[in-house]
Parts: sequence; C-alpha cells; structure tokens
Amino acid sequence: MTQRTLVILKPDAVARGLVGEIIGRIERKAGWTIAAMELRTLERAALEQHYAEHEGRPFYQPLMEFMASGPSVVAVVEGERVIEGVRALAGPTDPIAAPAGSVRGDFGTIVRENLIHASDSEESAAREMKIFFPRFS
Ligand code: TYD
Ligand code: MG
Repeated sequence: MTQRTLVILKPDAVARGLVGEIIGRIERKAGWTIAAMELRTLERAALEQHYAEHEGRPFYQPLMEFMASGPSVVAVVEGERVIEGVRALAGPTDPIAAPAGSVRGDFGTIVRENLIHASDSEESAAREMKIFFPRFS
C-alpha cells in the first residue's frame, strides 16, 4: 500500500543540527522516498490549520510560538505504509515515554520540543499536505 505522509522536522531539530540524522533514518527504510522537502519558517496561519484539533488546549499557544520560532524542514515522504511507519520511527509524543531507537526517544527533551511531526492517518496526511504542499493533495 503506497502512501504519502507529511513530515515536519520542527525548529528544535533544525536548530540542533539533527536534520541529517532524522532524514537519514527515513531514507534508510527500503522503498521510502522523499517526494518533496523544503526549509521553511512556518507561518501562523498554516500552523493554525495544521494544529486546529488542539485549539483551546493549554499547550496550544506555547506550541504555536515554538513552531514559528525558526525554520522547519517540511517534507512529503512516499512509500509502503509510510503513514504508520514514520509515526513508529518518530515514537510516542512524550520523549520521556518514547523508547530508545525512536527519534523522540533518542533526541527529544520535553513534550513540546519533540523534533518531528508525522501525519497520523490517511485523512490527516491529505489534510496536512494540502496546507504545506498543495500540489500533492
Ligand atoms: P499530538 O497531536 O497529541 O501529538 P503528535 O505530535 O505525536 O501527533 O500533539 C501535537 C503536538 O503538540 C506534540 O507533538 C507536541 C505538542 N504537545 C504539547 O506541547 N503538550 C502536550 O501535552 C501534548 C499532548 C502535545
Ligand atoms: Mg498529532
């Protein structure tokens, strides 16, 4: 089942020089390819759409500020079961709970600064690609 997923290497990943490490993990998965990738400082309007499900939650405003605080790498990754696959490679949301071997487990600090976003379903992937890479939606 070939899929596409929206991946964001968040401002902490770029600032800490972890882009190559994380993209390398994705690239090493056989059959997965980078279909699009760009360094981009995310705008508030796009972030509001992207994180609409979390509006009103206590972590929402600090999350928005963090996500707009510097450049991110936004990418579309394509391949076999890539939606579930990149979520697994990222690990659970909270880096403390994330296992060693996952990106968040190996490099994450606090829950807000957990390095990577990956779409959580086909619907989310379609919705998120429309925001950041409309040509893929
Ligand atoms: P969420 O969609 O729950 O996690 P995921 O990124 O694993 O899909 O939350 C979105 C982001 O919001 C999460 O990556 C980090 C941030 N966040 C917080 O800062 N505090 C929290 O308590 C939660 C649940 C998320
Ligand atoms: Mg989520």
